[in-house]
Amino acid sequence: MVVTMNNSDKFTIRKAMQADVPVLVDFLAKLALHVAGEPPHTLKKAERSRLMVTLRSSLSDPNKRLVVAETDDGRLVGMGYLYVWRNQGIWEQSGDIEFKSGIIDDVWVEPDFRKLGIFSAILEELLAFAESHAITELILEYAASNKEAAATWKKLGFKPTGIRAAAFATDVHEALAKRR
Ligand SMILES: CC(C)(COP(=O)(O)OP(=O)(O)OC[C@H]1O[C@@H](n2cnc3c(N)ncnc32)[C@H](O)[C@@H]1OP(=O)(O)O)[C@@H](O)C(=O)NCCC(=O)NCCS
Repeated sequence: MVVTMNNSDKFTIRKAMQADVPVLVDFLAKLALHVAGEPPHTLKKAERSRLMVTLRSSLSDPNKRLVVAETDDGRLVGMGYLYVWRNQGIWEQSGDIEFKSGIIDDVWVEPDFRKLGIFSAILEELLAFAESHAITELILEYAASNKEAAATWKKLGFKPTGIRAAAFATDVHEALAKRR
């Protein structure tokens, strides 16, 4: 899909390829630091290799779709990822129906290219992939502190449906000890 923005900039939204993987690893590193609110730093070699292997294997998995946005001059400026999540119906009335959802993850658009509609275009591709798997529900998580993600997802039709709670094991030990 070719998307034109600002009447001049053209972006191609396409399925990721093996050659994209090194740049996509950089995007994942930037995303992790962005979510953690930490300054840029370089990935350790082992970490980079692990991410390269994970992304490479995603590319050939029929249940996963990694999509990128590329400028006219061949620069990657964004990515998004969706995988098919299957869960069996557990309620009596649903019989043996298999429920499928599309889990969205690893969303990144380079700062200079934000608010141009690039992620919306990536999402269109991810949605088409989900629908080709008969998926009608998309799910994602974002940090409560990530205001730009909250604003974007709201604009794109997502509504918060739950709260994800996390705790260090030490804090849980402490809480349980107090209750003994
Ligand atoms: C979130 C992110 C992917 C959005 O990408 P994008 O290409 O700028 O999104 P779009 O241009 O398609 O914007 C979609 C809608 O969200 C709105 N939007 C995007 N960023 C916004 C912001 N910071 N504040 C308010 N609204 C925003 C846009 O205005 C647009 O709505 P509109 O067309 O009605 O104006 C991008 O900001 C990003 O990469 N952020 C850092 C990584 C991140 O937080 N990822 C999500 C983790 S879950």
